[in-house]
Amino acid sequence: MNYITSNQNVSIPCMLYGTAWKKERTADLVSLALEKGFRGIDTACQPKHYEEALVGEGLKRFYQTGGKREDLFIQTKFTPLSGQDPQRLPYDAKAALEEQIIASCNISKHNLCTDYLDSLLLHSPLFPYAHLQRAWRTLETLCENKDTCQIGISNCYDLSLLEQLYYDAKIKPSVVQNRFYADTHYDKQLRLWCQEQGIIYQSFWTLSANPHILQSHTLQNIAHQYAKSVEQIFYRYVTQKGMIPLNGTTSSQHMEEDLSIFEFTLDNESIEKIDRLLH
Ligand SMILES: NC(=O)c1ccc[n+]([C@@H]2O[C@H](COP(=O)([O-])OP(=O)(O)OC[C@H]3O[C@@H](n4cnc5c(N)ncnc54)[C@H](OP(=O)(O)O)[C@@H]3O)[C@@H](O)[C@H]2O)c1
Repeated sequence: MNYITSNQNVSIPCMLYGTAWKKERTADLVSLALEKGFRGIDTACQPKHYEEALVGEGLKRFYQTGGKREDLFIQTKFTPLSGQDPQRLPYDAKAALEEQIIASCNISKHNLCTDYLDSLLLHSPLFPYAHLQRAWRTLETLCENKDTCQIGISNCYDLSLLEQLYYDAKIKPSVVQNRFYADTHYDKQLRLWCQEQGIIYQSFWTLSANPHILQSHTLQNIAHQYAKSVEQIFYRYVTQKGMIPLNGTTSSQHMEEDLSIFEFTLDNESIEKIDRLLH
């Protein structure tokens, strides 16, 4: 596994295992992903889409077989009320935003059987901006108290909002986690800005949102040239561009194939050809 070091000096594996929508299979799949070589896990304190306690079960199995906490990168999210199922809220809907974030972080640490998180993300921006600022201040406090080693934001597609947050922040975001797709022009400007500030861009739905790219002649030709699958080629492209993809595969074979992308490197010509497909 390759690693990138964040602005808070956290070592982040260059591909993360995503745990959404795995329901009762979550523990088995997390355990399998770790067995296959994943060392980074992405989850959320959002029972609507994630079984965070079962992620913890998968982690326990890793420790039982000799794995070490310090070898893992564990990332979770605080999901604001708007993103939660009202029937399955992890925290008190009537509590102040600050208290909700602290409660969510404590539940995540308990679920994930750890006394610190490597990364805690705000699942989406809050509006008005004053709410986002309050949430960020709370995340900063959690970071100062070593509940988490770094903080970040997800689903933030508005560069001016991200810039405002960045300039107001005492502790800068280490990570932006966004859907990587055509509707936002693949966040080209935002990614460039992130790169300039030393913020790591994590992509989700990298494969699911881009069937047209995977099916393109360009990808198929490059896949043929390197004797790899189009999925491997696209993941390799994304990682060579400095992004960290989340990968939610449920297949043991795909886990192996996707982790093996770090054994080859695409040449500049191939990278430029794929660049031209992203518009
Ligand atoms: N921040 C957010 O709001 C947000 C939103 C959505 C998702 N996420 C995160 O992103 C993670 C990944 O999302 P995702 O699972 O939807 O997207 P994804 O990783 O782009 O898609 C996974 C799909 O790709 C297939 N796949 C993976 N490797 C393959 C390979 N080598 N060959 C062929 N097919 C392959 C998988 O099928 P198989 O299972 O058959 O391999 C699965 O259907 C989630 O688990 C979650 O952690 C975050």
